[in-house]
Amino acid sequence: MKGLLLAGGHGTRLRPLTYTGNKHMLPIANKPMLLYGLEHLKNAGIKEIGIILGPIKEGVVETIGDGSKFDLKVSYIDQPDPLGLAHAVKVSREFIGDDSFVMYLGDNLLKQGVKDFVRIFMERDLDCLVGVTSVKDPSRFGIAELDEKTGKIIKLVEKPKEPKSNLALIGVYVFNSTIFDAVSRIEPSWRNELEITDAIQLLVTEGRKVQVERVTGWWKDTGKPDDLLEANQLVLSDQSSEIKGEISEKAIVTGSLGLGVSSKIREGTSIRGPVIIGDNCEIGPDAYIGPYTSIGDNCVLKNVEIENSIVMKGSRIENKKRIVDSLVGAYSTILSNESIKPQGYKLVIGERSFLQI
Ligand code: TTP
Repeated sequence: MKGLLLAGGHGTRLRPLTYTGNKHMLPIANKPMLLYGLEHLKNAGIKEIGIILGPIKEGVVETIGDGSKFDLKVSYIDQPDPLGLAHAVKVSREFIGDDSFVMYLGDNLLKQGVKDFVRIFMERDLDCLVGVTSVKDPSRFGIAELDEKTGKIIKLVEKPKEPKSNLALIGVYVFNSTIFDAVSRIEPSWRNELEITDAIQLLVTEGRKVQVERVTGWWKDTGKPDDLLEANQLVLSDQSSEIKGEISEKAIVTGSLGLGVSSKIREGTSIRGPVIIGDNCEIGPDAYIGPYTSIGDNCVLKNVEIENSIVMKGSRIENKKRIVDSLVGAYSTILSNESIKPQGYKLVIGERSFLQI
């Protein structure tokens, strides 16, 4: 069994953060999103993984390399244009060979991992197993319609306008090599993508053994900024405290805190976890770091109150305001405007930034 981890695409909904790096390298609880998928594949016993890379590659090869530091063998597969999930399968033919494989969309977070999916696929000797879960807004996803009595798949539809089911495909699939013949026979959809739902539909129509399996535990697809914050909350909810840095006796910490090496929490600072702070950070004096906040390595935060936010590496915030529900890209600076006359906000904002001030 091999792994196919998808990290292609443009990540348009996460601009401007995805102008300068691959979306899958954005941190969730201080760990690049893609590493969660990589670890899930490894925990399912998979040793050989192909990573699909598209137009924005920055960060992926630097972080994962040939996989040896994760005890894995990692190869990279070029998909210059994101022409669809079935296209990603198509370009992986040589890497996969005749093996079965797990395809994992790198922007998905899944508490339970993929071990159970692999086990079920093998035990039932399937051609394809699709991970699903119930969602409130099925028209945003690929949807599986099942026969109520038998539980068998009737139809798979990509982002249906009038969904007949709320069972969404979560971005984890297990295939054997019959999928390659199916992806070679489908045509691009109205959005000019080769849809994996169309290829799986072909397997269903031709009587192959295709089944769905519901996820247990939470699942989050991280396409938009609010999704990143929610994924960060879900991961931090499971965190236990680990303190490698120093905490002033005049600081107050409640709830779980991950504090990295050489980081300092200074006097007058209050931390209410779950919070994670990377290495070499200076927090305080007089800062408040509230629940569900992740702060990357080498950050300085003074005076500020911040909650439910992701602050990426190398950032500096020295400001008495309260910042909530925010994503602060790497190496950003947010300072106080009190000394500016006339009073006003002084901004240097990149293309497609979002501010609510
Ligand atoms: P999407 O979220 O559909 O696309 P995207 O990541 O480019 O984001 P946006 O819509 O904001 O532009 O992709 C789902 C996952 O699949 C994501 O991890 C990227 C990956 N992907 C590929 O690797 N190749 C592809 O051709 C497509 C369509 C997606």
